[in-house]
Amino acid sequence: MLTQIVYQSRAAQPLTRRGYDELLRECRRRNAGDGITGLLVSDGLTFLQAFEGPTDAATACLARIASDRRHHSIVMIRKVDVPAREFGTFAMLGLLPGLAEASSFVDRTKEAVEDVYSPSLQALFIGYATLGRSKMPQLRSL
Ligand SMILES: Cc1cc2nc3c(=O)[nH]c(=O)nc-3n(C[C@H](O)[C@H](O)[C@H](O)COP(=O)(O)O)c2cc1C
Repeated sequence: MLTQIVYQSRAAQPLTRRGYDELLRECRRRNAGDGITGLLVSDGLTFLQAFEGPTDAATACLARIASDRRHHSIVMIRKVDVPAREFGTFAMLGLLPGLAEASSFVDRTKEAVEDVYSPSLQALFIGYATLGRSKMPQLRSL
């Protein structure tokens, strides 16, 4: 059984590109071994993440995420069983507005949620990318 988990949280410190890259590297290393895939978007001050994997692995992943002090104020948005992966097959796709023009951040987010079954869940990610843009000047300028 595959479980899909979506949450939002607040970064403990304003995010830097280096910090984000390190975080993604850790996530991917771990996820690759656990069969976890998903999408992590950030505007520099908050995170919105979706991940999917075998139920036990996804539940353990949530526990690891919840105990990571790089963020806090986690709000669970969704925890459901899904028949197939909806957020692609990458060990953790990371999208930051600073990595490209704002319009491209939105476009890349739209692509990443193309296969998401629930329109409201798609809208959450696209809305986040559209309205959030970058809250951090150092991300915007990258
Ligand atoms: C925003 C955010 C997203 C994270 N996403 C994942 C993830 O997708 N997979 C994962 O294993 N850990 C994730 N983590 C947790 C950390 O990467 C964690 O430190 C790492 O899994 C190391 O766990 P370990 O101490 O068991 O080795 C995330 C943490 C944060 C702050």
